Amino acid sequence: MKGIILSGGSATRLFPLTATTSKQLLPVYDRQMIFYPLNVLVKAGIKDILIIVAPEHSGHFLNLLGSIFDKNDIRLEFKVQKNPRGLADAFIVGENFIGQDNVTMILGDNIFEDDFSDEIKNFKSGAKVFAVKVPDPERSGVVVFDDQMKALKIVEKPKDRISDYAIPGLYIYDNRVVKVAKQVKPSARGEIEIVDIHNWYLDKGELAVGLVKGKWLDAGTFDSLLEAGVYVKEKKLYEKFDPIINRAIEEFNEELKIICKKRL
Ligand code: G1P
Repeated sequence: MKGIILSGGSATRLFPLTATTSKQLLPVYDRQMIFYPLNVLVKAGIKDILIIVAPEHSGHFLNLLGSIFDKNDIRLEFKVQKNPRGLADAFIVGENFIGQDNVTMILGDNIFEDDFSDEIKNFKSGAKVFAVKVPDPERSGVVVFDDQMKALKIVEKPKDRISDYAIPGLYIYDNRVVKVAKQVKPSARGEIEIVDIHNWYLDKGELAVGLVKGKWLDAGTFDSLLEAGVYVKEKKLYEKFDPIINRAIEEFNEELKIICKKRL
């Protein structure tokens, strides 16, 4: 299993914060947002992770993460996505990185309370996405269930309230996703939509939909960014991080302090 964190886009909804750095490097309480999706992948034992970034602040990602796992058996790769062409584009940008493997993709601004390690480790084939009940499904891709909770259809940001279940930004696919992504035609908003990939697997009867039990936060607006920080602090979510990541952050901080003292 390979991992992709999609951290492209210009995050105009968070201007002026994102005029100086990437959304995924903004703080969520005591650490940069990207550590949350990174934690989901590392916890699931994924060793090869591709981080797709926008060109404007790509160096910032390298400064923070370029050497952070030097002491661990985790390899990070970076790729610059010049134009955000839609979520499905990640599988085209990441084609060589994915190779013949399966892939879990997580969006760089999605923060989950749940641990998805078992779902990721036990994945065999087809696709697996997740559903979470939200008050504002019109902001997301949604899944319509029948009364047996069987997925019937998936629609990107529907205007009418057809479901209360959003599909958050964590997707597990088998290797066919690369081929499928290449077939997806741009939508009315000019993007190749991830929901078209979900629907391809759904039509084949190969899409599993799990339920998210804990909190899901998409830190893409001022309010949700603030909410995420407060939630993380109150629930001490940083304590549930994989020790590999907590240690790496600690060492990074210690190293910086020593460098700063020397300069002083
Ligand atoms: C994207 C996807 C949407 C998904 C959401 C989760 O939307 O297009 O299907 O539900 O991420 O965060 P965006 O928020 O990028 O517009």
